[in-house]
Amino acid sequence: MQDDSTNSPTGGWSGRFSEPVAELVKRYTASIDFDYRLAECDITGSIAHARMLEACGVIAKADLADIERGFAQIREEIATGRFPWSRDLEDVHFNLERRLTALVGDAGKRLHTARSRNDQVATDVRLWLRAAIDEIITLILDFQGALLTLAEAHAATIMPGFTHLQVAQPVTFGHHLMAYFEMSARDRERFLDCRRRVNRLPLGAAALAGSSYPIDREQVARELGFEGICGNSLDAVSDRDFAIEFVAAAALLMTHLSRLSEELILWMSPRFGFIRLADRFCTGSSIMPQKKNPDVPELVRGKTGRINGHLVALLTLMKGQPLAYNKDNQEDKEPLFDTVDTLTQTLRIYADLIGGIEVNAERMRAAAREGYATATDLADYLVKRGLPFRDAHEVVARAVRHAETKACDLADLSLVELQSFSPIIDGDIFAVLSLEGSVASRKHAGGTAPEQVRAAIAAARRQLGL
Ligand code: ARG
Repeated sequence: MQDDSTNSPTGGWSGRFSEPVAELVKRYTASIDFDYRLAECDITGSIAHARMLEACGVIAKADLADIERGFAQIREEIATGRFPWSRDLEDVHFNLERRLTALVGDAGKRLHTARSRNDQVATDVRLWLRAAIDEIITLILDFQGALLTLAEAHAATIMPGFTHLQVAQPVTFGHHLMAYFEMSARDRERFLDCRRRVNRLPLGAAALAGSSYPIDREQVARELGFEGICGNSLDAVSDRDFAIEFVAAAALLMTHLSRLSEELILWMSPRFGFIRLADRFCTGSSIMPQKKNPDVPELVRGKTGRINGHLVALLTLMKGQPLAYNKDNQEDKEPLFDTVDTLTQTLRIYADLIGGIEVNAERMRAAAREGYATATDLADYLVKRGLPFRDAHEVVARAVRHAETKACDLADLSLVELQSFSPIIDGDIFAVLSLEGSVASRKHAGGTAPEQVRAAIAAARRQLGL
């Protein structure tokens, strides 16, 4: 990045100023250090704009040819790291336009006809975000594929299901994983839905009021693959709600991944010992040689706070702005870029991390046997034999208290012992008290029975084409 005040002092507005901008102010107001990432979108948008200007008779054929040639060279310069970025030129738009003019002369100066940086930047951000959403959707699919594979392998692996982090009822590990699949499916829908509103063209709004040239906004929209144009010029240049709703969707996805992370951290702690993460996702301790730390899930949990912060930043950025464009909006980019970077990295790592999970089925099973996880099954058994549920609840509570004094599971009590709590209990109770019997009995849609888990996985695969 050049920082050279012998350059022309600003990109394109210094005509009416009597002294150059203070150095500190220049640095404070410049966005080029981060908005250079919009360069490719800015070029794509500029070429579409120039083609439209030519088609509408606003610029000459020769001008369009010069502009296209100039941008071809600029693309080449950027790709090979030879583009002369300059902080003195404030932002990506001025940097590109100034270079274009240096390369092709007057045609470069004509490009900005019927356009303002206000509609230009709004267009760039939308193009950039649309591509980011498409990548995120693909990465969600990869993550979902990994979840489905692991869930399929463990459709019948029994673990304790928890409420209040206390053992509640047995579930299958596959069922537990499919809960995260459901969350991610909603996340994916949210991004797809948000994309429709991102995918609208602001160009043509110019600074705020529209343009007095005979422009064809629909042509530009078509060329750039937008689903339509923004319907009001003031709104087009000023609102960033599309970015806010994107970050909101990102915050929810990260929140889901953060919950999963919390579980992975618990499950791999020696107290649980349910899973092992592949070593490539863990780190050691510099002082305690025995340690294997779940740094990746911990960071995912931590980075969720950062994305939530970006959401609040963008909402706060917007809330006090009068129509139309204000420079406040320049502050939308860093939170947005960081959200996309964090999300894409996280999803990429998690697809791989899920694929590398090793399950300790014995530890899961042993934990499920520890907390009287089938107590509800005993109550349901009594109800099916005519006892009102509240009475059944009481009978089971007494049986659990008895088992506790013997430090054993309900299934370890003898039939005679069980019958001392209720005479309607029969020998068939042991199938009910078994972990397998418990999960198999929840065989309705959405239940934890292995056959239902497999059905949910098959439906997910069909729906996603995985
Ligand atoms: N760098 C600016 C931004 O990101 C571009 C638009 C500037 N427009 C203006 N009127 N100062 O928002």
